[in-house]
Amino acid sequence: MTVRVEKCLSIRDLQQQARRYLPRVIYDYLEGGADDEACLSRNEDRIRAHTLRPRYLVDIGTRSQEVAVFGRTYASPFGIGPMGMLGMVRHGGDLMLAEVAHRNGLPFVLSGASNASTEAVAAKAPGSWLNYYPCKSDEIERDLLKRAADSGIETLVVTVDVPLHAKRERNMRSGWVRPYKPTPAVIAESLRHPAWVASYLRHGLPVMENIRPYAPRGTSARDLTSFYASQVPTRHQWGLVGRLREQWKGNLVLKGILAPEDAEAAAAAGVDGVIVSNHGGRQLDRSVAAIDALPEVVAAVGHRMVVMFDSGIRRGSDIAVALSLGARLCFVGRAAAYGLAGYGLAGAQRAIEILRGELDLTLGQIGCPRAAELGPNCLWERRASDAVPVRVPARRSAAELVS
Ligand SMILES: Cc1cc2nc3c(=O)[nH]c(=O)nc-3n(C[C@H](O)[C@H](O)[C@H](O)COP(=O)(O)O)c2cc1C
Repeated sequence: MTVRVEKCLSIRDLQQQARRYLPRVIYDYLEGGADDEACLSRNEDRIRAHTLRPRYLVDIGTRSQEVAVFGRTYASPFGIGPMGMLGMVRHGGDLMLAEVAHRNGLPFVLSGASNASTEAVAAKAPGSWLNYYPCKSDEIERDLLKRAADSGIETLVVTVDVPLHAKRERNMRSGWVRPYKPTPAVIAESLRHPAWVASYLRHGLPVMENIRPYAPRGTSARDLTSFYASQVPTRHQWGLVGRLREQWKGNLVLKGILAPEDAEAAAAAGVDGVIVSNHGGRQLDRSVAAIDALPEVVAAVGHRMVVMFDSGIRRGSDIAVALSLGARLCFVGRAAAYGLAGYGLAGAQRAIEILRGELDLTLGQIGCPRAAELGPNCLWERRASDAVPVRVPARRSAAELVS
């Protein structure tokens, strides 16, 4: 039975509705991680292992989630990260997430493996960021970047954590293969999700619009996914970053950085920001939880570049933890996609409301009314005395509070 969207109280509730709406093969594509999916649960478990240090009798009457990144002020310290093939989750999924993020004053990152084109997203949601998976063809790269700049994209997010395609056993078992060709078993299971099937029959397989111009004319939606797979991943090394830095005049961000050495190399190459991420546990199952990698990266480059975070956020309090550990901005992947899957625009909006509401409560409960002031001294395990050297504004001391 369909649950009304406002009855969904948590991201978990939205996840259940996504599972109900989507055929198993698509739900597994959205949810799945690499190998045993240990990293998937590690990401969430390790964020939850952090506890906060509440301070009371503080003026929390006015609370603000605003953060400034790359000269823009966002209404909350999180955005929606890049997710490929969202058109399989909901017809027009990229544009829906872009619209909801824009409406709520949050950044949206269009995937390098998107269905919508850069131009369409930039028109619908000015201020969107663009994700780029390095391509084998220099001409495609140059043109994608030119189109991005011409569309007014200011921030390019280059994904570096896919040197090889991961082994996602869940996807392989449930029939997510390229090119997408449902087996009789997949079709039979899909028929238990008639609303999704009706939409699929109406709209067909979603087209990867961004790369369509580079494939031979008339390439089918199915063959476009194979064409894209022939371009990505590449064997590029750090030289790529230098080249992109020369070509791209806007903000340049590397996504998928975990080691502080790589963050240092990014800073040396003139990169403006990094997203500490393990791709939501979809690439290297033995990866460190992204949250555990965050403090070292912040310590290494937090004073020189914008350090951002994703992987495992399911609660507003998770965002508070990441900011306390030094992230300036967080991104969510699945949390937004669950809402999109179950309810389209309304569900994506609900996901943002849930996270925002939970973050607001957390800020009030711990006595830190401004998200931008979260820092190590908001964490129980980190006293101000051993705080990592980041832009952490000290919370007011007891003496200041009583004066
Ligand atoms: C369905 C799906 C597709 C994704 N596609 C991309 C992509 O195209 N580019 C990219 O850099 N990351 C991609 N990611 C990773 C996300 O950007 C993000 O790092 C991850 O989802 C964060 O973890 P979370 O889902 O636990 O929030 C994808 C994630 C999912 C769930």
